[in-house]
Amino acid sequence: MISLDVNIKELKKTYPVIIEWDEIRLTRQKINNYLNGGKFLVVISQKIDKLYGKELGFTKEEKFVLKDGEHEKNFENYRKILNFAQKLKLTRKDAIVAIGGGVVGDIAGFAASTYMRGIDFINIPTTLLACVDSSVGGKTAIDTSLGKNIIGSFYQPKAVLINTNFLKSLNDRDFKTGLGEVIKYAFIEKNCKAEEDFNLSNFLSSNIQKIFEKDNLTMSNLIQICVKLKISVVEKDEKEAGLRKILNFGHTYGHAIEKITRYKKYTHGEAVIEGIKFAFKLAMKKNIIDKNYKFFADDFIKNFRFNEISAFNMKKMSEIMLTDKKSNGKTITFILPINYFSVEEFEISPEYLLSVTE
Ligand code: GLY
Repeated sequence: MISLDVNIKELKKTYPVIIEWDEIRLTRQKINNYLNGGKFLVVISQKIDKLYGKELGFTKEEKFVLKDGEHEKNFENYRKILNFAQKLKLTRKDAIVAIGGGVVGDIAGFAASTYMRGIDFINIPTTLLACVDSSVGGKTAIDTSLGKNIIGSFYQPKAVLINTNFLKSLNDRDFKTGLGEVIKYAFIEKNCKAEEDFNLSNFLSSNIQKIFEKDNLTMSNLIQICVKLKISVVEKDEKEAGLRKILNFGHTYGHAIEKITRYKKYTHGEAVIEGIKFAFKLAMKKNIIDKNYKFFADDFIKNFRFNEISAFNMKKMSEIMLTDKKSNGKTITFILPINYFSVEEFEISPEYLLSVTE
């Protein structure tokens, strides 16, 4: 078992991220270790409930089953979860537990952060994407018609409990969407300023076979590296005032792809990978990196065999990127590679984008 601490100094709050591959039937017992005898409501992904419902053993009365898909992260389901919490008479001594991917963690975390002005939240991520990224760092949210994560809060969990056995539930495409975020960490590793030098890109290249086999030891080592990198960033900048923005590497263009295709055609990871490739192209056009680093990045990404995404109309993409909640409405904020495994923030005008991508 690996136990990592996230220490958010401003909040004077430390919480553990546990990484292990224990029997799934022990999950309830593990949740109870973090609660002082209080009650809890479980928000669980429908897919995980179907596959592991019996082993997990939660009763109908204590679990809220959330259908899968980004569109379920909506106001109506948020309201239903709060109603469920009231029906269970949860008090401030009680907790909400999320078991599922990023959608479940985000909506359950947001419900926990607002129910009675905040009750304990335990996150049990079951997808690779949630294990390496969304479960750590306290971002919670729901989507509205204006876009993704429009209403939300920063709310750190009481504990994050990762069991790599859950990763076996992922099909190839869903597993790879998590690898999109993992690859992002490889390209930003130096900025994270973690205490250790992981050389994540090397780890990925040397272990690719075992990663695709979802080997428990390899996966827990991989998740450990990514979580340590993420902890190093969020401990320095919880609220994304500066450093945390590097976690958006590949996301400016990636989010626009998701939006233009109505979140239906590509997974988040596929869109992020395309966004990373776009960032490399842009950095080369701007002479920030040389062609050797771009070739290295292209070859490295090819090993993971992501679905190809065709080019989009740049004028439309620019318009979407300008309406991103992180944009000032005039220029588009990109995180671009500047050197091996280092990135920096750049403001780029839509006119410049059009001129270099025609
Ligand atoms: N997923 C990016 C962040 O947590 O800031």
